[in-house]
Amino acid sequence: MSEKKQNQPVYTVPGNQQKYELLQEKNDEALLGGGKKRIEAQHKKGKLTARERIELLLDEGTFEEIGKFVMHRCKDFGLDKQYYPGDGVVTGYGQVNGRLVYVFSQDFTVFGGSLSETHAEKIVKIMDLAMENGAPVIGLNDSGGARIQEGVVSLGGYADIFYRNTLASGVVPQISAIMGPCAGGAVYSPAITDFIMMVEDTSYMFVTGPNVVKTVTQETVTAEELGGASAHSTKSGVTHFSCANEVECINNIKQLLSYMPQNCEEDPTIAPYEPSGDEKVPSLNDIMPENPNQPYDMREVIEQTVDDGSFMEVHKNFAENIVVGFARIGGRSIGIVGNQPASLAGVLDIDASTKGARFVRFCDCFNIPLLVFEDVPGFLPGTDQEWNGIITNGAKLLYAFSEATVPRVTVITRKAYGGAYDVMNSKHIGADMNYAWPMAEIAVMGAKGAAEIIFKREIAEADDPEAKLQEKIDEYTEKFANPYKAAHRGYIDEVILPENTRAKLIKAFKMLENKAVSLPKKKHGNIPL
Ligand code: HXC
Repeated sequence: MSEKKQNQPVYTVPGNQQKYELLQEKNDEALLGGGKKRIEAQHKKGKLTARERIELLLDEGTFEEIGKFVMHRCKDFGLDKQYYPGDGVVTGYGQVNGRLVYVFSQDFTVFGGSLSETHAEKIVKIMDLAMENGAPVIGLNDSGGARIQEGVVSLGGYADIFYRNTLASGVVPQISAIMGPCAGGAVYSPAITDFIMMVEDTSYMFVTGPNVVKTVTQETVTAEELGGASAHSTKSGVTHFSCANEVECINNIKQLLSYMPQNCEEDPTIAPYEPSGDEKVPSLNDIMPENPNQPYDMREVIEQTVDDGSFMEVHKNFAENIVVGFARIGGRSIGIVGNQPASLAGVLDIDASTKGARFVRFCDCFNIPLLVFEDVPGFLPGTDQEWNGIITNGAKLLYAFSEATVPRVTVITRKAYGGAYDVMNSKHIGADMNYAWPMAEIAVMGAKGAAEIIFKREIAEADDPEAKLQEKIDEYTEKFANPYKAAHRGYIDEVILPENTRAKLIKAFKMLENKAVSLPKKKHGNIPL
């Protein structure tokens, strides 16, 4: 052999075994995200990692990852020396209670979970798959926002996601969990999705953070005060659920999914249901106070009517004068909207109207029948409400009900006054079955207000105006503070004893299960926004 040939380096082509080992190494590296130290830091904050969250969410062994080795393409600001396989987001598909879902989970240990061009492409890929295959998208958000080193490319990535959130709206359910920071324009992806969950103390959402707020408005506020779970579940209504920790948050997602179909073409699944005799609930007869001005908790009515333990309240701490949530009745998934006499006498105001309207529209998108429990004294008066647009906002609820084509049933438990009678799923705007309890009062307004207006002169001229007023109140009450005038007209299909409510509803929803109506042909309506 010549000397030249002897000194040449010997290239050994790796054998298959080495290739398998290389793959293993790469997989192991990807599983570590930003590395052990950053994982420890994440745990120290009381947060799980992106992969731990997915493990909790999905049925064991069902996760299939997509894009594990994707890397960013940025060469600026030293990023050409920092690569992490997966680029800060774990994406893929799996099952929740045996049903397909697509999931993305941002990895805060890699560049703070910030969104790069490739990170966005991974999310877009699973969103496209979800829409094409008709299954929900779950987003687990934990991100420092736009990848600052990438500039406009990252902003473009966000917009690609927003666009798909919008296209997917009403096609497949979309649920967002906020499990860390979510700031700037990044908040708009969760905002377009159907439901937002936030974890207390470790998550926040705001368009501009405390520093910018301080500069612009001179307000001093912490991130938690400005955009924590508590602020958004009580003040702004941005989040539908405030969860004590990440485990509770993920359990909520699973339960929420159980009421929904996979997409807008399907019906929700029906849970096994064993009829228990006549389905009478005698305790419902005892809920209503004798005095019509005394409050009671509409949640009790709901819980005693639906299948045991099946009620999941949504938006619990926001606009408490209206209660919305999912439940099952006779195994069937339904969406419930109830006025809440225990809060502001159940009056409809701006927040209650928008909360109700958004919920009704979700149910209608996904073929979830609607049940309304009505006890409403009317719309809230005042300059605050008028100047902030109770007209436009109240109209949202009216519009949402009017447009809903799912089976719709109403039970008037007590007051149904004024415009609120029309709005709360009345027969006139398309409800299918309308029941009333014997205590129902269906009228233009309460008896006192009515008597004061229509008998104003008679009362003023009476020897004893107070006695006259009472006489007229009694007269109006006898005439209108009951359900029978409405029943004579057929606006109420049946006046029922409270104890029979459950049985009636089970039969009504079964009767309506094949309801098929369609709206006039149009591009889309123009809900008063
Ligand atoms: C790149 C980022 C990053 C970002 C954090 N990191 N945010 N890298 N782009 N946006 C990196 C950090 O450099 C750090 O890297 C690691 O992530 C963890 O960050 P820390 O600051 O150490 O963590 P912490 O103290 O917990 O603070 C988290 C944070 C903070 C509050 C999110 O990092 C922060 O304020 N980041 C900037 C947020 C921001 O202004 N984003 C742009 C918003 S505008 P190392 O290597 O040290 O681990 C926006 C527009 C979207 O998003 C518009 C869409 C239309």
